[in-house]
Amino acid sequence: MSKTTKDPQPELKPRSRRGFLKFAMALSSLLAVGGIVAVLKSITNPAPPGAGATGGVFPRVKVAQLSDLQVGQPIVFNYPLDDEPNILVKLGVKAVGGIGADEDIVAFSSICQHLGCIYGFQTTGSSPACNTSYKADRPVGYCCCHGSVYDFTNAANVISGPSPRPQPQVKLETDNSGNIYAVGMSPPTIFGHQTGSNDVSADLQGGNSVPVG
Ligand code: FES
Repeated sequence: MSKTTKDPQPELKPRSRRGFLKFAMALSSLLAVGGIVAVLKSITNPAPPGAGATGGVFPRVKVAQLSDLQVGQPIVFNYPLDDEPNILVKLGVKAVGGIGADEDIVAFSSICQHLGCIYGFQTTGSSPACNTSYKADRPVGYCCCHGSVYDFTNAANVISGPSPRPQPQVKLETDNSGNIYAVGMSPPTIFGHQTGSNDVSADLQGGNSVPVG
């Protein structure tokens, strides 16, 4: 009876090993060159104005004219997507991130960071229709769903209510003709877009991602 044996695994011959080493060295050189090229590109082509944390680029959209604005009279516009409302208002008092000669023009997402209701603006001394016992002691956003109050003079930080975080602020610019443009968003993300994240490039994605509360 003949005995069958499997061929032993062929060994790499010295010549093959040398070839493999040459190939590995050439590959690592290519990867190193690729990394250097990427770094040089990022230096020579910095991210454009309005770029998000991971490179998303916000559109520059005209939203109003300076001459349209009256103190305490909000304007609503959609940005950055066409179904996402924001409140633009001239407060009459200097505000964090405010633009214009008086640095009092601000805009914030009007989708509440608590559970996504659309909230309204209250001038100093006014009350929302849903809660006449509340009187604003400064310009605020007031959400009638559960009573969150946002300080429009201070980056829409939460004054009271259940909201866990401030409202995203719209970055605004003006030109010499008095046009006002929206050019980006400041963190956190708009409610519904990776809610609670600071990566504002998520604001540019349609089909809202799952909120985390
Ligand atoms: S959704 Fe605005 S306070 Fe709850």
